[in-house]
Amino acid sequence: MPEQHLLPRHIGLIMDGNGRWAKKRGLPRKAGHKAGAKTFKKIVRYCNQIGVPYLTVYAFSTENWSRPQEEVDGIIRLLRDFLADASNYRDENIRTRFVGDISVFDSDIQRKIAECEEVSASHTGLTLNIAINYGGRDEILCAARRLAAEAAVGKRLPETITAEDFSEQLYTAGEPDVDLIIRPSGEQRLSNFLLWQAAYAEYIFLDTLWPDFDEACMDRVLEEYASRNRRFGGV
Ligand code: IPE
Ligand code: IPE
Ligand code: MG
Repeated sequence: MPEQHLLPRHIGLIMDGNGRWAKKRGLPRKAGHKAGAKTFKKIVRYCNQIGVPYLTVYAFSTENWSRPQEEVDGIIRLLRDFLADASNYRDENIRTRFVGDISVFDSDIQRKIAECEEVSASHTGLTLNIAINYGGRDEILCAARRLAAEAAVGKRLPETITAEDFSEQLYTAGEPDVDLIIRPSGEQRLSNFLLWQAAYAEYIFLDTLWPDFDEACMDRVLEEYASRNRRFGGV
C-alpha cells in the first residue's frame, strides 16, 4: 500500500462486468448485479479504511435505461435494498451522496436517498458519491443551462464565468477533481462518466470483472497510480 500522500484524493470507479461474470457461470445477469453490489460494499469499506477521501462509483448511467426492463428492474431493486439497509456504513463514518438526476426515480426512493444523505452528512471519513441515472454530458448541459439562465437575467456576466464557477454547478461541487479512474472488465472507455472532473485523471484498466474485484486488486491499482508521473501540462 502506498504512503498516504501518494493515494489519490478522488477515485472514479466504473463498476463494470457484472453481466459477463454471470454469463460465465450460466447465471442470469441479475445474479451478476447482486454479486457486484456485494463487491461494492466491500470496496467502499476498504477505501474508507485506507484513507481515500473521495470515491465516486458508477452504478447506473443515463444510457443504462436502454437495457431490458427486467434487468433495469433488478438494478432498481438492488438500489432499494441498499437504501432500506439502515445499517449501511452506520459505524464507519462514511458520508454518502448521490450524483445524477434522481428526479426520475419513484418518490420513496428519492425520500430514502435524502434520508441517507442527511444522516451521514456530518460524517468525516470517506465521501462516497453513488452515481445513478448519471451522465457526464447531462451534468455538463445542466450546469451550462443554469449559468446561461443566470446570465440571461443579469446575475452573471458571461465573460467572467470561470472553470471554478462551472465546477460549482456540477453534482460534485465542492469536491476535488478526479485523480484516478479505475475500470475493470477489460473495456477501455469512459462511457460518459465524470467527463469534466476527469480532465487530468490517470486511467487504470483491469481485465478482472467487477464482482471478482477485491482488496488486492485495489492495492495493485494504487501502487500503479503511485508510480505514475503526473505533469498537468508542465514539465
Ligand atoms: C455493470 O455491469 C453494471 C451496470 C452497468 C449497471 P454490466 O451489466 O455492464 O456488465 P457487462 O458489461 O454486461 O459484463
Ligand atoms: C458503464 O458501463 C456504466 C456503469 C458501470 C454503471 P456500461 O456497461 O453501461 O458501458 P458500455 O455500454 O460498455 O460503454
Ligand atoms: Mg458493461
